[in-house]
Amino acid sequence: MTSDPLLALRPWEAPEVTSWGRQPMNAVDRRPGALPLDGDWRFQLLSAPDAPVGGAWSSACVPGVWTMQDADGLDDLPQYLNIRMPYPEFPPGSPAANPTGVYEREVDVPAEWAGRRIVLQVGAAESVLLVHVDGRPVGISKDSHLAAEFDLSGVVRAGGRATVRLTVVKWSDASHIEDQDQWWHGGITRSVLLYATDPLHLADVTVRAAYSGELRVDCRVRDAGGALPEGWYLTGELDGRPLDQDAEFDRANVEDERVSDFLGEARLLTTEPEVRTWNAETPELYDLTVRLHRADGTVTDTSRHRIGFRDVEIVGRDLLVNGERVFIRGVNRHDFHPLTGRTVSYDDMRADLVLLKRFGFNAIRTAHYPNDPTLYDLADELGFYVVDEADIESHDHAHEIADDPRYLNAFVDRVSRMVLRDKNHPSVIIWSLGNESDYGANHDAAAGWVRRHDPTRPIQYEGAAKLDWAATDDASDIACPMYAPLEDCVAHALSGRQTRPLIQCEYSHAMGNSNGTLADHWAAIEATPGLQGGFIWEFWDHGILQRVSDGRTAGRGGAGLYDNGVAAPGYRWAYGGDFGETIHDGAFIADGVVFPDRTPKPAMYEHREIAAPVRIECFRHEGIVLANHQHFRTLDWLSGAWELVLADGRTLTGPAELPDLRPGETAAVPLPFEVPRDGGEAWLTLRVTTAEDQPWAPRGTEVCVPQIRLRGPAEAPVVPADRSVEIDDEGLLVHPLLTLAPTLSLWRAPTDNDELGGMALRWRTWGLDALVRKVVSVREDAGRVTVEAEYAGTAGVVRHRQVLTAVEGGVRVEEEAELPEAFHDVARVGTVFETVPGLDLLEWFGQGPWESYPDRRAGAPVGHHSLPVDALFTPYLRPQESGGRHGVRRFTLSAPDATGLCVALDEPRQVSVTRYRAEDLASAAHHDELVPRPGCVVHVDAAHRGLGTASCGPDTAPSYLVAPGVHRWSWTLRVL
Ligand code: GAL
Ligand code: MG
Repeated sequence: MTSDPLLALRPWEAPEVTSWGRQPMNAVDRRPGALPLDGDWRFQLLSAPDAPVGGAWSSACVPGVWTMQDADGLDDLPQYLNIRMPYPEFPPGSPAANPTGVYEREVDVPAEWAGRRIVLQVGAAESVLLVHVDGRPVGISKDSHLAAEFDLSGVVRAGGRATVRLTVVKWSDASHIEDQDQWWHGGITRSVLLYATDPLHLADVTVRAAYSGELRVDCRVRDAGGALPEGWYLTGELDGRPLDQDAEFDRANVEDERVSDFLGEARLLTTEPEVRTWNAETPELYDLTVRLHRADGTVTDTSRHRIGFRDVEIVGRDLLVNGERVFIRGVNRHDFHPLTGRTVSYDDMRADLVLLKRFGFNAIRTAHYPNDPTLYDLADELGFYVVDEADIESHDHAHEIADDPRYLNAFVDRVSRMVLRDKNHPSVIIWSLGNESDYGANHDAAAGWVRRHDPTRPIQYEGAAKLDWAATDDASDIACPMYAPLEDCVAHALSGRQTRPLIQCEYSHAMGNSNGTLADHWAAIEATPGLQGGFIWEFWDHGILQRVSDGRTAGRGGAGLYDNGVAAPGYRWAYGGDFGETIHDGAFIADGVVFPDRTPKPAMYEHREIAAPVRIECFRHEGIVLANHQHFRTLDWLSGAWELVLADGRTLTGPAELPDLRPGETAAVPLPFEVPRDGGEAWLTLRVTTAEDQPWAPRGTEVCVPQIRLRGPAEAPVVPADRSVEIDDEGLLVHPLLTLAPTLSLWRAPTDNDELGGMALRWRTWGLDALVRKVVSVREDAGRVTVEAEYAGTAGVVRHRQVLTAVEGGVRVEEEAELPEAFHDVARVGTVFETVPGLDLLEWFGQGPWESYPDRRAGAPVGHHSLPVDALFTPYLRPQESGGRHGVRRFTLSAPDATGLCVALDEPRQVSVTRYRAEDLASAAHHDELVPRPGCVVHVDAAHRGLGTASCGPDTAPSYLVAPGVHRWSWTLRVL
């Protein structure tokens, strides 16, 4: 039996023990003057919390998880699991093999802290933190994503040296309620510091700043010595303007006999005239300083805040910010970094948020735990609506834990501490009770605490509201389903039963090549009262940078070993299973709209356009109609430039004067160009950029690119040539620039959605990945060669006809394929061929420049685009169909000497040009396993299946499926 009382308690298997010796959470903000304790600490990894410390010390970086530190002997590597716990012990148990990190260092306590209250703050540790100073037990804390503070005043001596030991136990009763879908790590993930205050200090500061300009600052005051000294008082400043203590509040306290010897309560009150209010579009902040004084006027404590005046309320089924029904264009964001796991720096967080702003997001759900305090400062400053989520997810044992009284403390503790910490942030508009933990009494208890403590914000909890979106008596003020079919959301909003806002807490699962039908979602949301948006799942692809040679994480030393979404040679983005784990959930951890290095995936451009603040509503003969789709801002922060895109290859440009529109207003503007009579199909594009520097984007940053068609295509005459095409014995076209002749293709390398949605299995069962071609007949008639062929799968046969005609400069290929009913949902119907090496540049007239697919093409305007072939491919972590371009009318593939080929299509078609055959992609598990082919693999599709989001959630809409029956398409191949 150990003599250490902290160990003797075995707090890792005691859910009732949420903390011991820990200071209450508060929102006092007094950062200056603290002593940072970040850096290298002595470190030992024990095999269990009660194993003796006594081995050799190595060192570990604080903050940092030991699972990502590339140091000798640290053999506890990351493990990815979605729902399942990594061990079989039922809650509250934990496994006997329980990695436990012991961090130790000396701290020199400043001599000038004599007589002050000295506090140790550990930013975050997972999952149980035990604190010893000079061998004496100081405290215990749980909750891996909130800070723990310990009063060391009686333990350390100012001017002296103390040894601080932080013991971090990886598995505990708390792990069962931290079972989020993410990598498991162990360590100290946020900064550690020591600070000192006067014994007479601010214990908490609660700011209420309303849209009306009314400001109320409620303070709690304590003295570490016990009784409060006579005559203490508060002062404050708001943007330099002095604030006084509210005498009426003091009088009322006296009259109601609420005055206490040891707890001071006082209020600052003012009304800001002509207040600049806060919202996510114009996040106006004020500087608030709160000072605590002794009777003689000396200042004993100061708390500084950046505050925003705003209201949040739910009226009927609308969530209102400052009275406006704002759309929630949200994303779920985990703390993630490919080199440091869950430790993220200020610069990282800022870069995340800046990127999100640039792509039209205005909301973040802190999935699934409170983030570093800095993130909320940034959200206040840059303008985001935040759903602040408590660190509770008991996914694997959700039902048992939701009503388990042993966990009651933990639920209330985690939710209340989050609220106590974050309540002064204008960005936080909703509290979330956690994620995927069923629904039980423990949730109701936590919700009850919040409703009393902070009546100014709604609460949401998916698990409560999912039982009945229309209920009015559960713990959620918002119906916040995940991955609900769009039809169900619309039907609910139209049902007459809706009682509360419907904002999906997760939707549009971004795994791999995904986010199909996002534009359809938003068309419905914007058109249907009662629907207000949602949070895309999720921001990050959580690929960890890994050395392929020895399977270790690259750690902090890996900076610079990746670019543009791709890991350097010898490295790869690891996902579940790559660290030798036997139980894991594979690539399901790679499901974000950005790559592990924050490179945006094409889906980000889709979102950017869907969120466009200014849009072209329609084209009428006299002009076009522009609309301001923001909630609070005029268009004066934007500039525009017009482009007229003509099919003949011309793009005319000119400056655009954006009209002075208030939110929701529209205005007709004359057509900026006289559209030339010739030139064929014509499109008008408005390139919208920031007119001046924004905190999140320099002047000139592209914001959106709305576009409208002015004129449809003209028929292009095809002039037959007086020769015939060459075909081989198999009826295949022989062409000097093609290394593989055009054949029929019905398959694509399954996307993650195709795999997890079951389509890929069906396609393999039908034999679509290995169709067997058989020529049925070859006829030649007046220069036209007609090749009839059959493509046999295991479940059916496709009849295919190719009519090849020599035309001026090339060959015209008319195709027809008849799919039997058995092939009722295939990946594509189209042509595939391969070119000689050297044709490395693709120029096309169609949608671009980003990758686009039939159900994800709102962000890719029609234009004349050009990209190197190698840049067309999107390196999704698990190789899959990628690189497609939608609505392609014509393309050329050329070598530097301008030789090459040109393909003209009968209609806008889905085209892809890559270095990979579908089977190359389908047989690789990681991007680094792919071997590019020297030539190009070209697909021209008559029909291509939408992407959908079936890896987690709805498949694409029926209108984006490839139907059986007859498909016809034609194209003309010319040599440049
Ligand atoms: C949700 C869950 C997320 C994540 C996602 C799938 O069910 O809340 O944490 O697992 O699905 O990627
Ligand atoms: Mg989960």
